[in-house]
Amino acid sequence: MDHFTLIDGVMHAEQVPLPAIAEAVQTPVYVYSTATIERHARVFCEAVAGCGNGTPLVAFAVKANPNGAVLATLAKAGLGADVVSEGELLRALHAGVAPEKIVFSGVGKTAAEMARALDAGIGQFNLESEQEAEMLSAVAAARGATAQVAYRINPDVDAGTHAKISTGKSENKFGIPYDTALAACDRARAMPGLQVRGVAVHIGSQLTDLAPLEAAFGRVGKLITALRAAGHDIVTADLGGGLGVPYDPAKPAPPSPEAYGAMVRRATEGWNVRLMFEPGRLIVANAGVLLTRVIRVKPGVTSPFVIVDAAMNDLLRPSLYDAWHDIRSVTPRDGEMTATVVGPVCESGDTFATRRAMGAVEADDLILFATAGAYGATMASTYNSRPLTPEVLVSGDRWAVVRERPPVEALIEQDTLPDWL
Ligand code: LLP
Repeated sequence: MDHFTLIDGVMHAEQVPLPAIAEAVQTPVYVYSTATIERHARVFCEAVAGCGNGTPLVAFAVKANPNGAVLATLAKAGLGADVVSEGELLRALHAGVAPEKIVFSGVGKTAAEMARALDAGIGQFNLESEQEAEMLSAVAAARGATAQVAYRINPDVDAGTHAKISTGKSENKFGIPYDTALAACDRARAMPGLQVRGVAVHIGSQLTDLAPLEAAFGRVGKLITALRAAGHDIVTADLGGGLGVPYDPAKPAPPSPEAYGAMVRRATEGWNVRLMFEPGRLIVANAGVLLTRVIRVKPGVTSPFVIVDAAMNDLLRPSLYDAWHDIRSVTPRDGEMTATVVGPVCESGDTFATRRAMGAVEADDLILFATAGAYGATMASTYNSRPLTPEVLVSGDRWAVVRERPPVEALIEQDTLPDWL
């Protein structure tokens, strides 16, 4: 459910007509809906409420959408943050996320990043290797600090998602093998500056089947039992993110947050821990669209090309994962067409949709790519010297630019000439 709807034949974000934003900010532009972000956060929190001890910590995966206004909206709603870099850590703190609600994930944390996170007083580090544990121990001990840690296990389950976003198979770089986790925790317990307090898992993204998640959670439960038998004081379990969202209205919808919550309740029965979650896509994907203008319609041999002013550098998902984003006209015309929708970048991969049946469009029309609030703006680049796309946040009948479109001069000024030129 989102708040992008047709009102009197014009697509609105909540109560704001999208043509007004396009007129003022120009295109392409990402537009986010506050009401949708807040609703998704609430629905997820309610779905997992009552699972585990106390109130679960829902830590938004910042990588999905790190815009400061989006993070501030979620911080206000009480969410924590799952971060994977110093940049994400600082953004989360800047947006007002309480440090104890921050979890640091990722396979490549550097000593400098660890120090920064320890100084900020974050709640938990999710460790992904014994080498990382040794580094964190050294960094923490040197500062007289104690890092709260959980090992992320790799449960070796097939999450059934796109290979590039699957993370829980043994050949993936993430986590430590389930079989070695007990010994790894025993060794970590003996290291200064570390307090082993939990277990973590995250098997992939855009998951449309709960069975692999439940299998992975089963392994977490077994490990908690084994760790307790070995004398560890296990008080948390971080069940990661990953729940999919509907992209293609013609496909069956992924399991609902309620179904996910019911599965979690069943899978974690008797664990006696506080649960943590790291949803990203579920919170923001359908809260954002990429608004773009048709530059021209070029006749093609197999189907016409609708050439828009957004490109693969603005929304990479279709090129990178063959991802489907629904295409909607902002002011729908009568009639239909089948077209290949492309951007101006000089690669055939700069294709948003191939021979897609869609509403008829003409040059200068506004269209939008739906479900672009997650892994959209954050994965953008300046390829082809196209400045990063601006972002707008809507709330009711108000809207604000929450990231400006940089002038192309800013790109040029970033480069410096060596003294021989
Ligand atoms: N926790 C960890 C440790 C993760 O690596 C991720 C996502 C999440 C949580 C959040 O997962 P979510 O709830 O959003 O599925 N760029 C790709 C998605 C990459 C996901 C990476 N990790 C895409 O556009 O589909």
